[in-house]
Amino acid sequence: MRVLVTGGAGFIGSHTAEALLRRGHRVRALDSLEPRIHPRRDRGFLPPQAELVRGDVRRKDDWIRALDGIDAVIHLAAYQDYLPDFSTFFHVNAVGTALLFEVVVERRLPVRKVLVASSQAVYGEGTYRCALHGVVAPPPRAEAQLRCRDWEVRCPRCGAPVTPVACPEDQPAPHNQYAISKYVEELLALNLGRRYGIPTVALRYSIVQGPRQSLANAYSGACRVFALALALGRPPLVYEDGAQLRDYINIEDVVRATLLVLDDPRADDQVFNVGAGRAWTVLELYRAVARAVGSTVPPRVEGAYRFGDTRHIVSDVSRLAALGWVPRHAIEKSAADYVAWLRTQAIDGDVLDHAEQRMAELQVVRRGEG
Ligand SMILES: NC(=O)c1ccc[n+]([C@@H]2O[C@H](COP(=O)([O-])OP(=O)(O)OC[C@H]3O[C@@H](n4cnc5c(N)ncnc54)[C@H](O)[C@@H]3O)[C@@H](O)[C@H]2O)c1
Repeated sequence: MRVLVTGGAGFIGSHTAEALLRRGHRVRALDSLEPRIHPRRDRGFLPPQAELVRGDVRRKDDWIRALDGIDAVIHLAAYQDYLPDFSTFFHVNAVGTALLFEVVVERRLPVRKVLVASSQAVYGEGTYRCALHGVVAPPPRAEAQLRCRDWEVRCPRCGAPVTPVACPEDQPAPHNQYAISKYVEELLALNLGRRYGIPTVALRYSIVQGPRQSLANAYSGACRVFALALALGRPPLVYEDGAQLRDYINIEDVVRATLLVLDDPRADDQVFNVGAGRAWTVLELYRAVARAVGSTVPPRVEGAYRFGDTRHIVSDVSRLAALGWVPRHAIEKSAADYVAWLRTQAIDGDVLDHAEQRMAELQVVRRGEG
């Protein structure tokens, strides 16, 4: 097959492109080589055997060039992170996806399958169990609560403590600009795919970890930020109290899931969670990274928090498991692989300070009182 991987020069895209090439597919990437991810504006992490179409998913002409002769599309290019340039999220993630379908439909291109990358972020604050009220979906925690360093989620009906439960696919509740744009992306893709007979799948990746999360972007990605700081001998900043639960999935598990739904028609027209099937605390990830680096530097746990962040989140992966996929790797492998890769890279120490300062200036990261 001839497969177009958008964002193919990036983290997930380059691993996906490699796996496709290993299976004998031909790969073309559409990538704008965003300077925040690829400061040298080279081919990024795209394997040499893949063709690169340098272009922007916001431009129809670039889609027309990239889609020529393509059988399947894995649409990964996206604008992510927490910065408050709200409109960019929609231009890239929503309009970019609409243009993909516009070009395929308008030109009657023989594309046989489209996969789009969505995110676990669409679950917002996630789902929890209240002893009295059963499963509840609380709204985002109030700013006043976070300012008092009161981190835990409570039942929206009675205020009692709640325990997190894995989110099934059918309860999205996106509440930040990134999550809403990703939800729009998957709604567009699945609905247009169904209407025009183009088999389409949306994959809600959890937090993906592994080599090649760009070192030039220190705005998010706990494994990357911790590893970078520790490699520089600095104490990394941990948000809230570090007890947040996160669903960290290894890149190899993500690539296997992506290729499985590419090949399996039972997946068509559906949305799937792609997560680790369990959660770890942020401090557990921190310790795994510190062990991999060989560092004993303690983290800074100072009551800083990211405005609009989720407290606990884990995805229910039973729908994808029913197709025969199970996640195989834990955070220790992700941390070890990332640190081994980091040792082969030139590190720019300013990147961390710059990201931290910018997020404080923009009030993306705030500090609790007391
Ligand atoms: N990494 C994660 O933990 C994670 C979790 C959930 C969902 N996702 C989704 O997976 C996909 C891939 O994420 P990633 O972590 O590999 O990101 P990445 O930043 O490493 O790679 C994204 C690639 O897309 C390219 N790109 C960005 N804007 C573009 C544009 N306008 N036109 C063309 N190319 C553009 C970038 O140059 C980059 O090479 C995204 O859709 C993201 O939303 C990632």
